[in-house]
Amino acid sequence: MEKGLFITFEGADGCGKTTQLILLAKALKAKGYDVVVTREPGAKGLGEKIREILLNYDGDVSSQAEVFLFLADRAQHIDVIVNPAVEKGKIVLCDRHTDSTVAYQGYGRGLDISRIKMLNDLATGGKKPDLTFVFDIDVETSMERVGSQKDRMESAGMEFFNRVRNGYLEIAKQEPQRVKVLDARKSIDDIHKQLLELLKFSINNF
Ligand code: TMP
Repeated sequence: MEKGLFITFEGADGCGKTTQLILLAKALKAKGYDVVVTREPGAKGLGEKIREILLNYDGDVSSQAEVFLFLADRAQHIDVIVNPAVEKGKIVLCDRHTDSTVAYQGYGRGLDISRIKMLNDLATGGKKPDLTFVFDIDVETSMERVGSQKDRMESAGMEFFNRVRNGYLEIAKQEPQRVKVLDARKSIDDIHKQLLELLKFSINNF
């Protein structure tokens, strides 16, 4: 592959996206692809420091400040990890990216969606994922999976997570070519198989 691929994994907390990302990475590596597994927020270095604040800081965090922290992490991540890897022909599998900000800070916190999209573009320099998987799940099940030990974001409540879920479904409706929705209540194996099919279908010559 001359130029690589940038694939993002999205969904509410507890949707199982990280498990699927790891499974896909294994499957791709077994086929000989050069794969980079990464995440937002907090891939490494500066990002890890920002993640620590975002998930564990126990003082007030305004919604605006929260957005800019996620964006600072994203700008660093795109420049230092994602773009160099894609340029080298690698397949980058990223746990959360721009759609998380639209879903969580836009639909969830109620910030202006078009402004968030503009800020996302600034942070990424206009780079877009080639493909995005959204793992859709009802809020009761996802909160059960998260359990009682919740971080700052996971503690935002049921109504918040209902808005986040609807936000993701709206994003998928608006960009059906890029964003594929999977039913996250199915078995791990079924979801993995469906994901491989979608990958074949969406990416030419894969
Ligand atoms: P994780 O637990 O999937 O690693 O994600 C960290 C949390 O940060 C999760 O609750 C989703 C949230 N988040 C946002 O609210 N906005 C964003 O832009 C990103 C990337 C994550």
